[in-house]
Amino acid sequence: MKIINVAIDGPSGAGKSTLARLAAKKFGFIYIDTGAMYRASALKMLNLKIDIKNDIPSVIKAIADTKIEISHIDGNQHIYLDGADVTNLIRTPEVSMGASNIAVIKEVRLKLVDLQREIAKNHSCIMDGRDIGTYVLPDADIKIFLTASAEKRAKRRFDELLEKGENVTFDEVLCDMKKRDKNDEERAFAPLKPAGDSILADTSELNLAESERLIENIISERLEK
Ligand code: DC
Repeated sequence: MKIINVAIDGPSGAGKSTLARLAAKKFGFIYIDTGAMYRASALKMLNLKIDIKNDIPSVIKAIADTKIEISHIDGNQHIYLDGADVTNLIRTPEVSMGASNIAVIKEVRLKLVDLQREIAKNHSCIMDGRDIGTYVLPDADIKIFLTASAEKRAKRRFDELLEKGENVTFDEVLCDMKKRDKNDEERAFAPLKPAGDSILADTSELNLAESERLIENIISERLEK
């Protein structure tokens, strides 16, 4: 059977992971959340008390000794850091910012990109991230750039964090999101940007069901071609 790769890129909070997970279920592909790999790498540095922004040599040394793996349990991706399941530990604001900072380091990216390409080579998957269509899988069968306004994205993230009981304000979430967007768009190596052959999907004015339909229509239309 032909392996199909779908790349979904876009800024934080655009709904990539939710929509990619739903679409993967619908089309029978596996879902790969590459952000989780950057998050797990950042968690390792936080655990080791390495200052990600200011001590890059220590990050590079530590990442060389780090094992990141994923598995799927009931269709959900689990991520393992040096053998421990850290799926739930990587969703804090501190890890989010650490992930955005660690993602500028080329040596970290190269290691994670190898893992991502290996998975995509062997499985039909929907992979979400920032550089999947531009760098990780430039030959992906379908490329979607999913976006929404910064305010809408921050509001969605804020609601999620409140639900989890995190103590944050909307302004903090918006400010963090803008900082991460800037980091992701301005880094020298594999920055966040739409691939030339990607399809733009803006969900600013769409609810979840409408966004889901939009993504699934894009994928089914392309699969039929
Ligand atoms: O999608 P996310 O919020 O879980 O990603 C966390 C950080 O990882 C994000 O700020 C940018 C970085 N990232 C990246 O640079 N490239 C990817 N393919 C995925 C995530």
